[in-house]
Amino acid sequence: MIPTTLQEYYKLHAPIYDITRWGFLFGRNQIYNHFPELPSGSRILDLGCGTGKITSILHTSYPECSISAIDPSPEMLHQAKQKNLHEVQWFNEHYSIDSFQTNTFDLITASYCLTMMEDLEQILEAITRHLTPDGILLVVDFDETPYKWFANWMAKNHVHFNYWLFEKLEHHFNVLEKDTRKAFGGLYSYSTIKACLRK
Ligand SMILES: C[S@@+](CC[C@H](N)C(=O)[O-])C[C@H]1O[C@@H](n2cnc3c(N)ncnc32)[C@H](O)[C@@H]1O
Repeated sequence: MIPTTLQEYYKLHAPIYDITRWGFLFGRNQIYNHFPELPSGSRILDLGCGTGKITSILHTSYPECSISAIDPSPEMLHQAKQKNLHEVQWFNEHYSIDSFQTNTFDLITASYCLTMMEDLEQILEAITRHLTPDGILLVVDFDETPYKWFANWMAKNHVHFNYWLFEKLEHHFNVLEKDTRKAFGGLYSYSTIKACLRK
């Protein structure tokens, strides 16, 4: 039986998340290949940080930067905090336009979380506000599947292929890099996008 709300879903999945997701949330280990150079003191946000997989890579790659991470699931954040990522600021809430001030972050990462967010248009608007004028958005997520049954199954797991995430990202932002790969012989594709604000 799959829990009906996202909160309940992650309450159940948080303890087994790190040992199960490596097998299908591809592209996360390679995300640092797309990291921009940032001067020390830059501010970074890991959106939908979950158990801190990407937060941890950011923490290693940017020791001189200030890192914030936000997620509404207390259970996922509990797992993240156990990684002892010193000086990361954790925010236990749904990300929204009110979460941070305008022009706050030089880099925002969003790994496998945007395809779960029902209010995607407002989320993209919030990212636009929270990025500094030269800020970078880095997204890795599910892109497309040719199989309706798979899309239906993933929707039951709170992942929505029909949000057309990457089309929306390309509409809202100026795309600098896009890397799309197939998983499991074409069952689905996943993409990594590096983007900046449209000027
Ligand atoms: C599939 S996990 C990805 C976690 C992590 N980024 C990773 O790559 O392993 C999706 C995460 O997005 C979070 N999430 C869902 N809706 C959110 C929202 N509105 N604001 C912030 N985080 C959200 C969930 O709680 C969950 O921890």
